[in-house]
Amino acid sequence: MLADVLATTSSFLVAVVIAVIAQLFRKGQTHAHLPLKTRQSRAVLVTGASRGIGKTIAAHLSFVGYAVFGSVRSQDSYDGLLKSNDDTTAQGTIIPIKFDVTNEKEIAAAVEFIQKKCREKNLEFVGIVNNAGINPEGERYAKMQFEEQKLPDNVLVDGKTALQVLDTNVVGCFRVTKAFLPLVSKENGRIILIGSYFGTIAGALGLPHLAYEASKFALEALADGLRRGLKGDSDCNKIKVSLLKPGNIQTDMNQFAGESPPVTVSSDVLAALEAKRPSARYYPGMVKGLPCKNICDFFALLPSFITDTQL
Ligand SMILES: NC(=O)c1ccc[n+]([C@@H]2O[C@H](COP(=O)([O-])OP(=O)(O)OC[C@H]3O[C@@H](n4cnc5c(N)ncnc54)[C@H](OP(=O)(O)O)[C@@H]3O)[C@@H](O)[C@H]2O)c1
Repeated sequence: MLADVLATTSSFLVAVVIAVIAQLFRKGQTHAHLPLKTRQSRAVLVTGASRGIGKTIAAHLSFVGYAVFGSVRSQDSYDGLLKSNDDTTAQGTIIPIKFDVTNEKEIAAAVEFIQKKCREKNLEFVGIVNNAGINPEGERYAKMQFEEQKLPDNVLVDGKTALQVLDTNVVGCFRVTKAFLPLVSKENGRIILIGSYFGTIAGALGLPHLAYEASKFALEALADGLRRGLKGDSDCNKIKVSLLKPGNIQTDMNQFAGESPPVTVSSDVLAALEAKRPSARYYPGMVKGLPCKNICDFFALLPSFITDTQL
């Protein structure tokens, strides 16, 4: 028993020391700013650009000079994105493109369209931002909690809902990343995935939120696996991969508990795009009044016998 406690305490201390040293060495390498002229020669794809975080990322990147291909699903969103080019303060452009991340044919057509546009406009395609996502469990949970003042029953969602969540949030990223990899590798570009703090903390909302949490845990593996796996591919070994893990962001998806504006996420997307050595993880925003990074780091360090009693 005593040996177990000592082993847990010493691994905890070793982890703290390693984390502190890693932070010290990383400072100054994860953020950089490129000149406007460079940005204006570069293009990126942002999925799910019709609303929320994706729309803000698209607006932010075009504001600082990028040509942004923003993916949407409806004609209204397409027109809306096109109209956002009327903002004369933006130094780049937003080019709407229609596709669903669950539809391989549409994604393949998007690759061709983007390749053609980049050739015509002499743009380097430097990255994809896998942002599109759904959280039907969270929306139902919040609606019941805040509007009906009760919590949903503590049961797992049905397989159809779980499949939908995983298909969009995880397989969607696989499809888009695989399809755009040849384009991204040409310019040694960036792959950015939008995960969540729920990719570190599972179980805080009980069983009715686990499909979403499982999807965000899966993105942790996808991000780490891509980052390490692409090193072994001679065409792709210069591609950098970052996972952003936002806290509670004020969007349709998080109407009741949103704490930080979406621009906190888009600032980190810009950093992940432009830093010479981008971080493997960024933690924009807050969770219950605390910086998301502190919450995630602290939670990950605690042994499960503590986290299991605290959640
Ligand atoms: N809000 C938060 O607190 C928070 C925190 C952590 C992580 N995130 C993550 O951030 C990302 C964006 O979330 P958000 O808060 O901005 O959500 P949102 O406001 O609900 O927007 C979701 C976006 O994804 C698009 N989308 C959904 N399913 C799609 C599909 N099958 N194909 C293509 N596009 C699809 C939506 O398009 P339509 O308009 O056509 O539906 C919309 O543009 C998600 O991955 C989410 O998990 C959010």
